[in-house]
Amino acid sequence: MQSLRYIHFLVKRRTISSFHLNIANNIHYHSTMAAEEAVFLDYKKNTCQYKGYRHAAHAFIYCKMATSNEKMKHAVMMQLRFDGTLGFPGGFVDGGENLENGLNRELYEEIGLSQANHFNENDYFGSWYHEHISLMDHFYVKKLTENDFVKLEKRTLECHDWGGETMGIIRVPLQESSKNPKFYGLSQFFQHNFIGNAMHQLIQVLIEKNILPAVDVQDASVNRDQ
Ligand code: GTP
Ligand code: MN
Repeated sequence: MQSLRYIHFLVKRRTISSFHLNIANNIHYHSTMAAEEAVFLDYKKNTCQYKGYRHAAHAFIYCKMATSNEKMKHAVMMQLRFDGTLGFPGGFVDGGENLENGLNRELYEEIGLSQANHFNENDYFGSWYHEHISLMDHFYVKKLTENDFVKLEKRTLECHDWGGETMGIIRVPLQESSKNPKFYGLSQFFQHNFIGNAMHQLIQVLIEKNILPAVDVQDASVNRDQ
C-alpha cells in the first residue's frame, strides 16, 4: 500500500507549501505513485485541462464534540456503501449540473441533508482526478455543530437511499486508546476496504483540518502499509 508514503508526502508538503497543490507538484506526485492512485488538484482553478470526464462529488461532514465527551474530540461521518466498501456520502453529478447542487441533491438522497446544512463553494476542499476510470471526484468538507450533526445522523434512517445505496452511516473511530496512545481504533479502521481513494481523503482532511495530529494519523496507518 502507498498510504504511508502518501502521508509522508502530506506532512512534508504541509511544511513547505499551502494546502492546494499546484499542477507542477501534481505531475511529479502522479509519476511517483501507483497507477491506481489519484491526482489531487484544485479543479476550480484548472478546469481547462480536465474536460471530458465524469464528475462526482463527495462530502466529509464532521463536528467537534462537547468537551464532556472524553473519548472522541470529533465525530466524522462515513458510510457503508451498497458495494460493501466504506466511503463518503455523495455521488455522480449530472451533466450540466452545478457541482454543489449535485452534491446537495445526492446528500439529500443518501443521508437526508437538510437545506439549512447545504454545501456551497466555500466548502470546496479539492478534487481527485482518477485517470484509469475517467472520473473527477470533487471533495467538500463541512463542520457542523454537534447538535446538527447528531440530528443528521438520526435523519439518515428515514432518507430515500437508506438500505439501498447507503447501508449505514458510521462515525470514524478517532478515540485514543488508553493502552495505546497511537489511535488504535483508527489503525484498525484503516484495515477495511475503501472505495476509490476515500481512505486518502480521510487521511488528508484529518491532517489538514487539524482533527488529529499528522503524526498520530501516520502511526495509525503503519499496519496498513505492512
Ligand atoms: P450510483 O450512480 O448508483 O453508482 O451512485 P452515486 O451517484 O451515489 O455514485 P457514487 O457515490 O457511487 O460515486 C460515484 C463514483 O465515485 C463511484 O463509482 C466511485 O468510483 C467514486 N466514489 C464513491 N464514493 C467515493 C468516495 O467516498 N471517495 C472517492 N474518492 N470516490 C468515491
Ligand atoms: Mn453515492
